[in-house]
Order: sequence, then C-alpha cells, then structure tokens
Amino acid sequence: MNYWRGKLNNDEQGRILSAMNCDRPVSFITGASSGIGRSLARRIANEGHAVALIARRKNLLDELALEIEQDGGTALAIACDVTDAASVGDALRTVESTLGPVTRLIANVGGGERTDVGQFSAVHIERVFALNVMSTAICIEAVLPGMLMRRGGHIVAMGSLAGHRGLPGAAGYSAAKAALTNMMESLRMELRPRGIQVTLLLPGFVRCKPKRKKRPFELELEVATARMHRAILAHKPRCAFPWPLVWIANICRLLPASLYDALLAGRGPKPRVRAE
Ligand SMILES: NC(=O)c1ccc[n+]([C@@H]2O[C@H](COP(=O)([O-])OP(=O)(O)OC[C@H]3O[C@@H](n4cnc5c(N)ncnc54)[C@H](OP(=O)(O)O)[C@@H]3O)[C@@H](O)[C@H]2O)c1
Repeated sequence: MNYWRGKLNNDEQGRILSAMNCDRPVSFITGASSGIGRSLARRIANEGHAVALIARRKNLLDELALEIEQDGGTALAIACDVTDAASVGDALRTVESTLGPVTRLIANVGGGERTDVGQFSAVHIERVFALNVMSTAICIEAVLPGMLMRRGGHIVAMGSLAGHRGLPGAAGYSAAKAALTNMMESLRMELRPRGIQVTLLLPGFVRCKPKRKKRPFELELEVATARMHRAILAHKPRCAFPWPLVWIANICRLLPASLYDALLAGRGPKPRVRAE
C-alpha cells in the first residue's frame, strides 16, 4: 500500500490515514539541525507532514521548528543522540504521543571523520560505523514494529557515492556507507511485500558549507535536497546523483584493483606528520 505517494489526492490520503487512525503523515527526521537534514525537513514540512526534528543541538532544532510553524507547518524538536538506542526509543515515544504514528523515517545522520592510516585505530572505525550504520539500524529498530503492525510506512536512508568503492583517506566512511547500502538493499526486498517502502539516497558531493573549497561535481544544497525529495515522494528504491559522478563511480567499480589504485594514487589527504 503506497499511501504517501504524492500522486494520491487529498481524499485518498485522508481515507487511508483515517483507516490507520492518524490525522496526518508524520516524518521522523534525524540530523535535522544542519545541512541536508535541515533542508529536507523544511521540504517535508511543506509537503504537509508533521515533522519530528531530531539531532543533538536543540537550539538549532528549535529555530527550525519555529520557522516551520510560522509557515503553517507542524514540527516537534527533540534533542537526541541517535547512536544511543534508549534515547531514540524515548524520542519516538514522545513523537508518537504528540504527533501520532511515524509514517516515514528519514535516517540522515552520518558523516565521516577522515581515517588517518598513520594513526589507524579500530575505535575510530567503530565510531564512524556507529554514526553511519548503527544510528540508522537503531532508528529502524525503533520505528519498524509500528510500521509492520500497520502494514505501511516509508524508510529513507542516507548513503553516499563514497560507498561504491574504497576511497583514500576514507577507510571508515567508505566502508560504513557500503555496509549501509547493502543493509538497506536487503531490507528493501524483504519489507516491500509487507507494505513498507525503502528509499536509499546516494548523493555525490553536496555543498553544505559555502566557504569550503568546491569538490568535483558538487551540488548546491537546495538543488540536491530538491532531487532527494522528489525521489522520496516517488518512493524510488534508490536515488544516486549527480549522473557524471555516478558514471565515474560505476566505472571505477569495474576497474581491476591495480588500475583503480593507479587512478587514485596521491588523491587522498596528505598524511599527517606526527610530532616525535
Ligand atoms: N554533504 C555531502 O557532501 C554528503 C555527500 C554524501 C552523503 N552525505 C550524507 O548526508 C548526511 C548528512 O550530511 P551533511 O553534510 O548534511 O552533514 P552535517 O551538516 O554535518 O549534518 C549532520 C547532522 O547530523 C546530526 N548528528 C550528528 N551526529 C549525531 C548524533 N550522534 N545524534 C543525532 N544527530 C547527530 C548533526 O546535528 P547535531 O550536531 O546537532 O547532533 C547534523 O544535524 C550524512 O549521512 C552524510 O554522510 C553528505
């Protein structure tokens, strides 16, 4: 049952929502205090969803909630560390008792500290996995029982083209995003027959910090989130962009290791010199 499709008219949406005993769709959006999550949250609120804004910096979430409410939307700001299952459970209970059942999860939190091979540590890799993979798994664990019971819902996860193949300086991040991609693909196949849609977003570079040096094929934040939002509304299983970088990433996947290594030689971050 695809009840959040943008294609449904208001009567149809209302009928399905009342069958589910809820007044309006509710999106639980992680990492909503800045960057992609913040921009997506605004778009989703404009779409008519009540939005639960999740991140650690409550002051930024409160500002966004106010902006959304001034524009006629409904928003609830909750400070929560999504790597902590108990906090996510508490946040979900607050959201569901205030706004109603969560119909869409946007598991956007992630990011990557660079992996410095000179100071390689398993703790660093664990931290990057916790932020990118485990946070998503924790949020899915929280919302999935309700979605399964209602036989409906939409889970959106934030991957990256960096997960297509290992990149220099990104041993943790590339590995974590590759793991996330495969986790979501497995879930997508199994959840669809149970009425739950899964969308995996795989952006290239997105310009969240205007002062930062431009990266190859980097997209402006609003251009990128407009693209992601269209994919979410259409329930696309997977949305990788921009196309030149997708092509490069796909071709790189087919290259033999020796050629791939030669192509990327010297492209990683310069090694840090350790003070003796
Ligand atoms: N920007 C890009 O070029 C790009 C490209 C491909 C994929 N992505 C992916 O897109 C997602 C968002 O990236 P972004 O560039 O928008 O990053 P960002 O601006 O750094 O935003 C990250 C968000 O996650 C929140 N967050 C971080 N740790 C958290 C935690 N433990 N618990 C709760 N919230 C936490 C941050 O808020 P608080 O600090 O307030 O908690 C912030 O709202 C990530 O998954 C990233 O891997 C980004």
